Amino acid sequence: MNIKQAIQNLPQKGYLDLPISKNINLVEEIKRLRKEKNAVILAHYYQVPEIQDIADFVGDSLALAQAAAKTDADIILFAGVHFMAETAKILNPDKKVLLPDLLAGCSLAESAPKDKFKAFLNEHPNHIVVSYVNTSAEIKALTDIVCTSSNAEKIINSIPENQKIIFAPDKNLGAYLIKKTGRDMILWDGACEVHEEFSLDKILQLKTEHPEAKIIAHPESRDYILNIADYIGSTSGLLKYVQESKAKEFIIATESGILHKMAQVAPDKILIPAPPENDKNSCACTECPYMKRNTLEKIYLALQYELPEVVVEEDLQKKALVSIEKMLKLS
Ligand code: 13P
Ligand code: SF4
Repeated sequence: MNIKQAIQNLPQKGYLDLPISKNINLVEEIKRLRKEKNAVILAHYYQVPEIQDIADFVGDSLALAQAAAKTDADIILFAGVHFMAETAKILNPDKKVLLPDLLAGCSLAESAPKDKFKAFLNEHPNHIVVSYVNTSAEIKALTDIVCTSSNAEKIINSIPENQKIIFAPDKNLGAYLIKKTGRDMILWDGACEVHEEFSLDKILQLKTEHPEAKIIAHPESRDYILNIADYIGSTSGLLKYVQESKAKEFIIATESGILHKMAQVAPDKILIPAPPENDKNSCACTECPYMKRNTLEKIYLALQYELPEVVVEEDLQKKALVSIEKMLKLS
């Protein structure tokens, strides 16, 4: 039995937890393995800075799905959460898709279990189903069109006026879209535990200390945060706003990983993370515990042993692909 087979036979934790020699340079080793194996590293803006800096491509959910759809690499290493890597696998059934930690889940995706979702759809026949990309492959297979926060408005507006719509799973994004599009949609009762945590009082306190600051927010945030925002957008939208705005200071209501890229593209701006109600990480910022499960060590081990791999059963892959491809066509 070789080392890889032996490792595959270890009790599965969801990630490799093997000793790494202190003498190696992790960044150089990851670069070497990536080249040797013709792998591409795709990272979401919520990853820690050292992962963003080593990635071939850093983007929001939509840009990452688009990058996954057109890569010619043999291996996709996804530095993000499970639904993102699963979407990459659905788009590339013949490629190996690695997620450094299979326990990198998402509270939104978990808020929509398949059986309950199926029953919900049965209670509301004759509706077109639009689902946020933050869902499992099973939910995507029950969905007509997938969307992300970058293209949700465009996708809702592409649906004929008299067609009834179910929007799932994020009730905050859904309520925001109802306001923006004027469409009367039925919403699934799900939410992102990270974006729901922002404290209105603490943001208003920051605003008194920085009266010129623009408040910018991701649409997964609660309505009382969106109501005071100067700008609402996806992570790439927020990034573009900071880069292009004449303002110098920003209070940013989304996961704090995005501040790394913002500081790179707008080094002269003052970036203030919006604080959560309970400051679990004592950073006065909000971090997604799932996104933060990825580390350089786990990426190195994943590339070396080509584990853990994301797999999607063929029939499910084919069904889920239809709603993802519809989104990509409309984007
Ligand atoms: P976007 O990358 O589409 O802005 O979504 C943010 C998010 O919460 C991803 O999990
Ligand atoms: Fe899911 Fe929220 Fe984390 Fe994004 S930030 S991965 S929506 S839990």
